[in-house]
Amino acid sequence: MQRLFRAPGRVNLIGEHTDYNDGFVMPVALDFSTYAKVSPREDRRLQVCSDNFGDEVEIDLDDQQLAARGHWSDYPIGVAVVLERAGYRLRGARLEIRGEVPIGSGLSSSAAIEVATACALLANSDLEIDKRELARLCRQAENEFAGAHVGIMDQFISLFGQAQKALMLDCRSLEIRLLPLPDNVRLIICNTMVKHELASSAYNERRAQCEAGVKHLAKFLPNVTALRDVTVQELERYRAGLSEVVYRRCRHVITENARVLAAADALERRDLHQFGKLMAESHKSLRDDYEVSSEELDLMVALAQKVEGVYGARMTGGGFGGCTINLVAQEYAEQFQQIVAPEYERITKLKPEIYVCTAANGAEEVR
Ligand code: GLA
Repeated sequence: MQRLFRAPGRVNLIGEHTDYNDGFVMPVALDFSTYAKVSPREDRRLQVCSDNFGDEVEIDLDDQQLAARGHWSDYPIGVAVVLERAGYRLRGARLEIRGEVPIGSGLSSSAAIEVATACALLANSDLEIDKRELARLCRQAENEFAGAHVGIMDQFISLFGQAQKALMLDCRSLEIRLLPLPDNVRLIICNTMVKHELASSAYNERRAQCEAGVKHLAKFLPNVTALRDVTVQELERYRAGLSEVVYRRCRHVITENARVLAAADALERRDLHQFGKLMAESHKSLRDDYEVSSEELDLMVALAQKVEGVYGARMTGGGFGGCTINLVAQEYAEQFQQIVAPEYERITKLKPEIYVCTAANGAEEVR
């Protein structure tokens, strides 16, 4: 029997580069998804076809030597390998993948393909799994196969997203707080059309800098295991001995965690002005302290901040290209696009893509 599964991409409203520091994030699942159609095979072979790449690969699930090749198929094959190693014995399958999440734009097309693949392969093998465990395994596949030492945010939201809601996630306990998004506001995503191609090494470098910060701070604060456990006052107190760069990286993460908590309260009070202010501060901190923004992202944010009806604008995702997220009053959504897109194009000669999004549900079977 053939079955079809869908897993969404995401946009993060606030809480960037905090997930791998045991911190807080606030993503939303998007109405852009990756689809995986699966049908069983009698043997233990896995055949994966990509509609987007017009390409097909086939592997033997019993092959112990499977390794990453720097190819699109690393994502689905990595998931199959990680599931098998975790003891989920998979049935052979033919998998057809079609993605509509823009690739390399910071909207988590990789998590969408991992989660869609995992749901399809497990269902095809009559296996059930706890969703938190599945998020962890998909993340592990990305860590080990794509070589990106990412946190858990993207895989988690792709599984747990809910329509009309933002999800505040505590990346340490994996507890969630669902926050209703007011109907009169639009999430507008602006794609700079600059792909974050070189981002992976810079991402891993940021991660290592955070770990260096923790190592230093833990000498004075023995209960600290992640930047999540540190306050700005403590960072200031024990700053001697930290390099200037590591100090700024830590300051971003610590202040960003505080911003997510404040933003969740603001959203609960429906205080969009306060939420927007926190988005602006988040962008600055990512630009100046964490240094993961880019000229195009800064420009897109600056253009948006001048437009009427915009509560907040910031870069979203890992950075170095990709997209910005804008919180815009519904009645100004049309005008926003008419002003920002041509201005951005005039200055950069790049034609941006603009998506007016709604918060969607997480991964599910499509019947
Ligand atoms: C990428 C990673 C996430 C997260 C963000 C930055 O999207 O996949 O785990 O670290 O960058 O917030």
